[in-house]
Amino acid sequence: VAAPHQDIAEVLLHPVQIATRVQEVGRQIAADYADRRPLIIGTLKGAVVFLSDLVRAIEPLPSGLELDFVKASSYGSSTTSSGDVALSLDMTGTADVAGRHVLLVEDIVDTGRTAAALTRHYEQAGAASVRMVSFLSKPARRTTPYEPDYLCFDVPDYFVVGYGLDFAEQYRSLPYVTVLPVDPAAQRAAPLPLQRSTSFNLTVSGLTNGQEYKLY
Ligand code: PRP
Ligand code: MG
Ligand code: MN
Repeated sequence: VAAPHQDIAEVLLHPVQIATRVQEVGRQIAADYADRRPLIIGTLKGAVVFLSDLVRAIEPLPSGLELDFVKASSYGSSTTSSGDVALSLDMTGTADVAGRHVLLVEDIVDTGRTAAALTRHYEQAGAASVRMVSFLSKPARRTTPYEPDYLCFDVPDYFVVGYGLDFAEQYRSLPYVTVLPVDPAAQRAAPLPLQRSTSFNLTVSGLTNGQEYKLY
């Protein structure tokens, strides 16, 4: 992957770290949902990249696993969650959730408002259980007591993009997580644990795809 954009300075989570952690969480979910016919519901749009990797890591495959999607919005195009805008459920999917063990998939839990509202929504719809797996969490920004049941990584309080996460709809397709230099002064005051420019081959479970990734 060549230099994607001059805005990208450094990488917070690289593809190998992501793939390794997603595999672990996938196995954990497979064990917990072996006999629960999980209904896995991804939150559009941010969760799409994580969900596609995660569901393929849920093995052994629980019988009755189904996928659905919901569109929830709280951010718009700003870099901070708009705390006064109510969650909108534009699209709630087609699956019948009554009696189902629902596993919500998110790219990030920030204030926790979206996660709490979605959980309430599916509990009221008659789900047998509602849990959430989130790729990222920003505990420093939580305004609700909500914590995801499964989590890949905690991240510091900077605006992160890539692997599904956007800034004004940009950068979702990046195969890694990086930080936008939206507030250089704040970043100088509290430097990030970022990894400097590096290049590597993506290797998962001893297999490499032979492509050299260059990160800037
Ligand atoms: C982001 C993110 C979560 C939510 C987290 O979605 O994907 O769904 O905000 O914020 P919260 O914990 O403060 O509620 P966004 O509204 O940006 O939509 P998108 O997924 O389409 O980018
Ligand atoms: Mg989202
Ligand atoms: Mn967003």
